[in-house]
Amino acid sequence: MANIKFFSGKTTPIEMHRVRIIQKLNLRPIEQRCNAIKQAGNNTFLLKNEDVFLDMLTDSGVNAMSNDQLAAMSQADDSYAGSATFYRLEKALQHVFGMQYFLPAHQGRACEHILAKVFVKPGQIVPMNYHFTTSKAHITVLGGDILEIPVKEAFEMTSDCPFKGNIDIDALKKVIAERGKDGIAYVRMEAGTNLIGGQPFSLENLQAVSKICRENGIPLVQDVSLLSDNLHFCKQREAACKDMSIHEIALAFAEATDILYFSGRKLGFARGGGICTNDKQYYLSIRELVPLYEGFLTYGGMSVREMEALAVGMFETLDEDVISQGPQFIEFMTNELVKHNVPVVTPPGGLGCHLNARDFLPHVPQPQYTAGALASALYIISGVRGMERGTMSEQRNEDGTEPLAHMELVRLALPRRVFTMSQIVYTVDRLNWLYQNRGLVGGLKWVDEPKILRFFYGTLEPIGDWQQKLVAEFKADFGDSL
Ligand code: F0G
Repeated sequence: MANIKFFSGKTTPIEMHRVRIIQKLNLRPIEQRCNAIKQAGNNTFLLKNEDVFLDMLTDSGVNAMSNDQLAAMSQADDSYAGSATFYRLEKALQHVFGMQYFLPAHQGRACEHILAKVFVKPGQIVPMNYHFTTSKAHITVLGGDILEIPVKEAFEMTSDCPFKGNIDIDALKKVIAERGKDGIAYVRMEAGTNLIGGQPFSLENLQAVSKICRENGIPLVQDVSLLSDNLHFCKQREAACKDMSIHEIALAFAEATDILYFSGRKLGFARGGGICTNDKQYYLSIRELVPLYEGFLTYGGMSVREMEALAVGMFETLDEDVISQGPQFIEFMTNELVKHNVPVVTPPGGLGCHLNARDFLPHVPQPQYTAGALASALYIISGVRGMERGTMSEQRNEDGTEPLAHMELVRLALPRRVFTMSQIVYTVDRLNWLYQNRGLVGGLKWVDEPKILRFFYGTLEPIGDWQQKLVAEFKADFGDSL
């Protein structure tokens, strides 16, 4: 955000855009919200959007597009092969990352699928700062495994570590010494590390990882889906990046890396994905699989209209005013919640504000899905839809036992350029009320638990009648307010 001082001395993040297309929202009365979450099996993925007031489930594919992106969509060239749209997107990516080759794919997990197929052999491991659900699944399904080696601060809920997404360099050296080059498919660094609260790594750490990988002949793959937040944080928090432009930092990220991939549902404010590299050999091996799984090389499963929007969105990612809005709103929301003692992950990261459910509801044990219960309660009392990122999102072990998640979080994603300040203020207010009344919230148990990715389709029910009590307390305090 531009440097704008207030006469009052307070600072409030200001939207550096104006809203020119809107979508009307519904805020149902609390009884209807309680019924809607019951119908959805207490799983916020299963709510109908028409029953949701503020949709903070994810930032995936729901970032607002700019007028330039919408205008670019109308020049899409619908040819199966050799589309001018492809060359425009390729050129944008070559500019942003300084990498020669671009391979399109329909979304981020499609890139992960192809990269795993090319690189992962049974028994190999992929050391990484932290996993994302789909990145892990594509590696393990091929008989590989992941090894998470972030710095220890990654798991501290409250911290002042500016780069919780860093890899522990000693742990990386140790695993390379133990497994050797052949035991490691590649090393993966995830920018704006999603599942630990949208936390960045530093350019310095990336360069140190890169040096070790290069000395040992191991490819370094970077997931840049959440790059824009990470670039902003490097500029804000890392002395060496302070005087670099956002583009210079992006180029340095790419220079340190052998292969980049992204979800264009996050990076670039559109929908799609792709892989970039400077290495011809890698390019050729990945290229074989693109037409098999995605589509011809000049669209890779994406709509050409989205590709046009993505090309413009990639340039917008280099604009500090554009990429700072998300992290600054998240910082504001996190700091306001801290003021009310609501437990949140700190320092504020990118992507969204993350509630620490175990401290919010210490009386709800993890096997009763603490974060799932909090997400359900929050929807009931506010119409705000968050996402459980805790034990429900894990999968059972082969023997049926249930691993408890490292962290029990509710993610309140702030899709870029979508929410206004008053909507953030409303959410903080309702969370403050819920925290004051946290003793009313109880746990959940499964009604239907799918074997694979159970958090998407599984349904649960409350243990006891806590939801009725929560509704009664809300009505006692708020009367006929929505
Ligand atoms: N990598 C990261 C860091 C992600 O956050 C995601 C998706 C993917 C890869 C997969 O990309 O959805 O385009 O296939 N994250 C979404 C989320 C789903 O809600 O955080 P995709």
